[in-house]
Amino acid sequence: MRKLGMSMVLFGLVWLGTLINGIGAQGSAGDTPASSPPILTDADCVKCHPPQVEQVDKKGGKHAKVGCIKCHEGHAPLFPREKMIPQCSRCHQGKSHFTLENCLQCHTNPHTPLEITFEGGEYKKACLSCHLGPGEQMASMPSAHAEQACNFCHTRHGYIPNCLDCHDPHLEGQTFEDCVSCHQAHKPTEITYGADVPNRLCAACHEEIRETLESGDTKHAQLACVFCHRSVHGVRPKCETCHGVPHPADMLEGFSGCLECHEDPHNLIK
Ligand code: HEC
Ligand code: HEC
Ligand code: HEC
Ligand code: HEC
Ligand code: HEC
Ligand code: HEC
Ligand code: HEC
Ligand code: HEC
Ligand code: HEC
Ligand code: HEC
Ligand code: HEC
Ligand code: HEC
Repeated sequence: MRKLGMSMVLFGLVWLGTLINGIGAQGSAGDTPASSPPILTDADCVKCHPPQVEQVDKKGGKHAKVGCIKCHEGHAPLFPREKMIPQCSRCHQGKSHFTLENCLQCHTNPHTPLEITFEGGEYKKACLSCHLGPGEQMASMPSAHAEQACNFCHTRHGYIPNCLDCHDPHLEGQTFEDCVSCHQAHKPTEITYGADVPNRLCAACHEEIRETLESGDTKHAQLACVFCHRSVHGVRPKCETCHGVPHPADMLEGFSGCLECHEDPHNLIK
């Protein structure tokens, strides 16, 4: 069996030696003398390279339309390897993505070009060639996340990691959706949030205040933390922002502020 296989390859190579003269001549088929060897076409490749043909058929993407010979312009033994194996830059130029090094580290197989792995290295510059946003976010607010490679978290292309894979929650039972209602993944130290964040999420760290507030009997007890402490963590609102000046000036005279009488915004004295 083995012997037969070997002689078939040998036969094949001799056959190729004659066939392949034709690859280069394809473009000028009109000038080919009638006596020249037949031209090797894409239909021949499957005879000896079925795996590559199958890969291109099944997952070749846009490379399937390119065709084998457009990339492999020559064949051993008549042509050297440089002629057999194309540089990506022959066809891909003019975008910053195409100035990266070592294309095949991510696009591991040119016959299945959209099968991409990030296992070959640590990437940041390469990702920013397409995703400007995360880079800008990281630069605007440096954090421990910004010091990591992008694929420290995005281990595969398109994969979104869960914060809880790497961090404990502030409070048992918090979910990924909770985390990103206050933290942005690419600038996690800037805490901002929307108007729908429930008190329980603040209470993870301010439990006493929540108890005080919610057990009160004034109208403030009905308000959400984030109704008063809007958007950015740590802001202290002014009473006047919502109430204007509700008392006559002479009543306020001699008092340092509203809380001297009302005492605690979370538990008003009425
Ligand atoms: C008759 C069998 C046969 C046919 C048909 C054939 N090849 Fe090959 N091919 C081989 C063999 C054998 C080798 C190994 C040659 C060597 O390493 O010197 C090879 C090597 C190659 C290589 C280089 C592999 C490497 O890593 O150096 C490429 C690329 C290639 N073939 C592409 C093609 C394409 C494209 C076609 C169709 C146009 C084709 N071959 C048709 C037998 C064939
Ligand atoms: C878009 C360009 C492109 C197309 C289209 C293409 N190839 Fe390739 N092929 C390459 C490159 C680049 C390599 C070298 C890969 C490497 O260095 O790992 C390669 C390698 C090969 C090899 C060597 C073994 C291997 O898998 O690395 C064979 C055989 C081969 N191609 C056959 C084919 C056949 C048959 C077709 C058509 C069905 C085809 N190629 C289509 C670019 C292409
Ligand atoms: C002979 C020309 C040629 C060569 C060489 C070539 N490509 Fe392509 N490639 C194309 C064409 C044409 C397209 C489709 C149009 C486009 O996206 O620019 C394409 C598309 C792609 C795509 C997108 C595929 C899809 O289905 O959306 C990737 C990824 C890619 N090429 C990677 C590579 C890599 C990596 C190399 C080198 C190993 C390479 N190409 C070499 C011609 C080539
Ligand atoms: C860090 C990994 C990585 C490296 C290195 C890399 N690519 Fe890509 N490439 C990607 C990812 C991710 C995509 C997006 C795929 C998608 O759209 O799903 C992509 C898409 C592409 C596309 C299709 C989209 C487009 O912009 O045309 C082409 C063509 C391409 N790459 C060619 C190359 C070439 C050529 C090189 C080397 C100069 C290269 N790539 C290096 C990861 C990489
Ligand atoms: C050639 C351009 C290109 C490169 C390079 C690239 N991407 Fe992408 N990326 C895309 C495209 C296109 C999408 C699909 C966008 C979509 O589905 O909305 C995408 C999607 C993503 C998504 C999912 C987005 C979502 O909304 O779910 C993540 C995460 C991602 N890329 C991370 C990375 C990382 C990390 C790198 C570097 C290791 C990288 N990308 C390199 C083009 C690229
Ligand atoms: C793959 C692991 C990983 C994932 C996923 C991850 N982080 Fe981190 N995070 C780290 C590491 C490592 C640090 C730095 C060391 C530390 O503080 O534990 C860090 C630090 C932080 C810090 C402190 C930053 C600083 O500069 O002090 C915050 C806040 C944070 N992460 C929140 C999050 C949130 C929210 C998510 C989800 C959106 C998340 N992390 C997802 C690994 C991760
Ligand atoms: C510490 C982990 C971590 C690091 C490092 C990280 N990301 Fe992300 N990234 C995430 C998480 C978590 C999400 C989902 C955030 C959400 O849903 O609110 C995300 C979302 C994305 C998205 C989709 C949404 C968007 O913002 O466009 C892209 C694209 C992306 N990241 C690219 C990158 C790139 C590029 C880098 C490197 C510059 C990077 N990421 C670094 C954790 C990380
Ligand atoms: C209601 C808003 C809010 C939510 C929801 C939230 N965080 Fe935080 N997180 C904060 C604030 C505020 C700080 C800063 C506390 C400080 O300055 O000590 C912080 C700090 C952190 C830190 C850095 C300090 C530390 O404790 O190590 C990490 C990591 C972190 N959060 C992860 C998470 C994760 C994971 C989730 C989801 C399970 C989450 N956060 C949900 C507001 C929130
Ligand atoms: C992870 C713990 C954590 C969470 C969750 C958290 N905080 Fe805080 N908060 C702190 C810490 C620690 C401080 C004190 C240090 C500082 O000023 O950043 C603080 C301070 C504050 C301050 C006072 C700032 C000042 O001027 O002294 C306000 C107001 C506040 N938080 C409101 C909230 C609200 C509203 C939420 C829910 C949206 C919330 N916090 C969620 C940890 C947290
Ligand atoms: C973000 C807006 C906001 C801020 C800031 C705010 N309040 Fe209020 N307050 C309200 C709303 C809304 C009500 C209920 C009004 C109604 O239903 O008529 C209210 C009600 C009150 C009442 C009447 C309570 C009752 O049960 O009848 C007092 C007294 C009061 N606020 C005092 C204060 C003081 C003092 C401060 C500053 C420490 C303050 N408020 C800050 C929005 C705010
Ligand atoms: C009606 C508006 C209002 C609501 C609702 C409210 N706060 Fe406040 N909070 C204030 C005001 C006004 C101050 C500033 C008081 C001052 O200047 O001394 C304040 C101060 C704080 C402070 C810093 C001072 C301190 O007492 O430690 C924290 C922390 C805080 N609030 C957390 C919360 C949390 C958590 C909730 C929800 C459980 C909440 N607040 C609900 C208006 C409110
Ligand atoms: C000298 C003590 C004192 C000071 C200082 C004071 N208040 Fe009052 N406030 C009261 C009393 C007493 C009432 C109850 C009056 C009533 O029910 O008619 C009241 C009622 C209110 C009410 C409820 C009005 C209504 O119509 O239900 C609001 C809102 C209010 N104060 C806000 C403020 C704000 C804002 C400040 C600071 C600019 C402030 N107060 C300063 C004593 C004070």
